[in-house]
Amino acid sequence: MSLSAPALRARKRRRGEAPIVMVTAYDEPGARYVDAAGVDVILVGDSLANVVLGHADTLHVTMADMVHHVAAVAAARPAAHVVADMPWLSYHLGDFEAVRNAAALIRAGAQSVKLEGGRNRLEVIGALLDAEIPVMGHLGLTPQSVLAFGGFKVQSKTREATSMLIEEAVLLQEAGVYAIVVEGVPAGVGTMVTEALEIPTIGIGAGADTDGQVLVLHDLLGLSARAPAKFVRQYADLGTVITDAVSRYRDDVRSGAFPSESESYPNPAGLLD
Ligand code: KIV
Repeated sequence: MSLSAPALRARKRRRGEAPIVMVTAYDEPGARYVDAAGVDVILVGDSLANVVLGHADTLHVTMADMVHHVAAVAAARPAAHVVADMPWLSYHLGDFEAVRNAAALIRAGAQSVKLEGGRNRLEVIGALLDAEIPVMGHLGLTPQSVLAFGGFKVQSKTREATSMLIEEAVLLQEAGVYAIVVEGVPAGVGTMVTEALEIPTIGIGAGADTDGQVLVLHDLLGLSARAPAKFVRQYADLGTVITDAVSRYRDDVRSGAFPSESESYPNPAGLLD
């Protein structure tokens, strides 16, 4: 049985709990490898748009894309909790449509959904919880707001903006979300919002004091085309490993070194007589 939303809700570091480890995955092999590493949560993020589908922002990812990739992740039968991002416009056009879309992600294999925004999302969060769907919040640099923000910019750089962020985090907690991703804010803001809440915060570019951390898999593996953000730690250079391996394959095919006899099916006796 994978980690449930209520079990994650209890993972507050100040109560002595270990930090939550969350990472994205978008397909079966990705989910299988990150699950083998023992992460707590796999996020099927709408960063799918950037790191897999080659778009400049997350506004281009659709419900159909998300359902397709959630099903691929679920096929790995991970022990980790699987949370699926609700893509842009899947929860903005009314509660009925939001519940139907969230249910499609759950039926594809997610155990909860994540959506972006604060006070303007309280009603839709209520509708999702009413349909028994656990919800994770997402505040700070919310990528679906890229046009409204005028770019991917660090948020909460003033006292007023920080008070507003903390207020919105408390509102989300009161609405019933089980955890909140806090993205792209100064480290001290990550600390303050974490201290203000009874539910865990999961940071990405929000400093070291949040109750968990999340990174995009392709960023930490060195597979992203985009320049790494300040908060990314790259743990491997798989891009180079892949290009080197495929270059050696190319050379072997061109030189005739591949396939060898041991890589070919033997001829049955008499076949060539
Ligand atoms: O889509 C995503 O990968 C995310 C993380 C950046 C938190 O929402």
